[in-house]
Amino acid sequence: MHIAVPKEIKNHEYRVALTPTGVRELVGRGHSVSVQVGAGEGAGFQDDAYQSAGATLEADVEALWQRAELILKVKEPQPEEVARLTPAHTLFTYLHLAAERALTEGLMKSGATCIAYETITDARGGLPLLAPMSTVAGRMAIQAGAHGLEKAQGGSGVLLPGVPGVAPGQVTVIGGGVVGENAARMALGLGAEVTILDTSVARLEALDARYQGRIKTVYSTADALDHAARTADMIVGAVLIPGAAAPKLITRAMLAEMKPGSVLVDVAIDQGGCFETSKPTTHAEPTYLVDGIVHYCVANMPGAVARTSTLGLTNATLPFVLALADKGWRQALADDTHFLPGLNVHDGQITYRAVAQAFGLESVEPASVVK
Ligand SMILES: NC(=O)c1ccc[n+]([C@@H]2O[C@H](COP(=O)([O-])OP(=O)(O)OC[C@H]3O[C@@H](n4cnc5c(N)ncnc54)[C@H](O)[C@@H]3O)[C@@H](O)[C@H]2O)c1
Repeated sequence: MHIAVPKEIKNHEYRVALTPTGVRELVGRGHSVSVQVGAGEGAGFQDDAYQSAGATLEADVEALWQRAELILKVKEPQPEEVARLTPAHTLFTYLHLAAERALTEGLMKSGATCIAYETITDARGGLPLLAPMSTVAGRMAIQAGAHGLEKAQGGSGVLLPGVPGVAPGQVTVIGGGVVGENAARMALGLGAEVTILDTSVARLEALDARYQGRIKTVYSTADALDHAARTADMIVGAVLIPGAAAPKLITRAMLAEMKPGSVLVDVAIDQGGCFETSKPTTHAEPTYLVDGIVHYCVANMPGAVARTSTLGLTNATLPFVLALADKGWRQALADDTHFLPGLNVHDGQITYRAVAQAFGLESVEPASVVK
């Protein structure tokens, strides 16, 4: 199969969908890979590394797309990329269609087969191609928040680990899923006092067992949130209610109860944010102040650490890429019940029910398409 890896064109996107290691795997199985010149540069993978791994470098982006059977990307296709898609293409990338009607309609019109990273499932009920980026964002949240605590950033001047004779800072993480657990682990590693709030008792039990009391677990209620606001130096927002906007758990009124210069890191900003005063920011200007509280609300946190993010993402995508290349999309999806829900659009039809429901459109079952 002929596989193409375009350079990402979304603003400030530095990740790439395939590393030279992935190229070597594909070429070793008899496939051919074209990589757009400079595609891996932002993540620290130079053109010559792709070439040494067996890829052909392509400077002409139109030719790259035209020749491809399978196109590997990171972000959803931008309008000029949608325009290049044809029924001959299989596209494998993050799509997040439920929030993007124009993109959904564009993909339907293209006739291409579009498989989304984010709707592939695993045997434990998780989302294995979303988890690596949640891991990155959770781990980054603490380093971003710790920076926000510095005076020059408007913070309270608290050093999270403290020093001998000075108590450590208090970190509260709301939502103990993938982001929350990784944030808590980092805060614990820095020597902070860490509390996780969650509405899932099962999740709190699992965290309690894993960390043996080194992380406090608290059932998330209005009282618990009030207490967190009054005592924490940093609060990380990491809740997710699948398919819904994040609930506003820290209100503007609660900011008055917080210690001046405390930090709110709203990782859930990509779902609308879980603090009332959150609004999306960028890596260029990641923080702002409201009522003396530092807010960090970057919606694409993994983009700042493109190298680690690329390696984490491609480790998770590579087995699916190999299956698509070896078997073709139809057989690869038919053979794997967890890969099958990745199919979002095929031949003008939506094949993922939640996306169709979001726009009041019809969908067809993916299983009927791969037969
Ligand atoms: N900003 C970024 O760059 C970035 C990157 C990755 C993920 N995210 C976002 O981070 C958020 C968390 O993702 P995740 O992968 O950890 O999700 P997850 O499903 O693994 O965890 C979410 C947790 O929130 C808990 N929760 C739900 N409602 C709650 C409430 N009212 N109070 C306390 N806990 C509650 C759930 O029980 C669950 O344990 C999502 O919105 C995700 O989109 C953002």
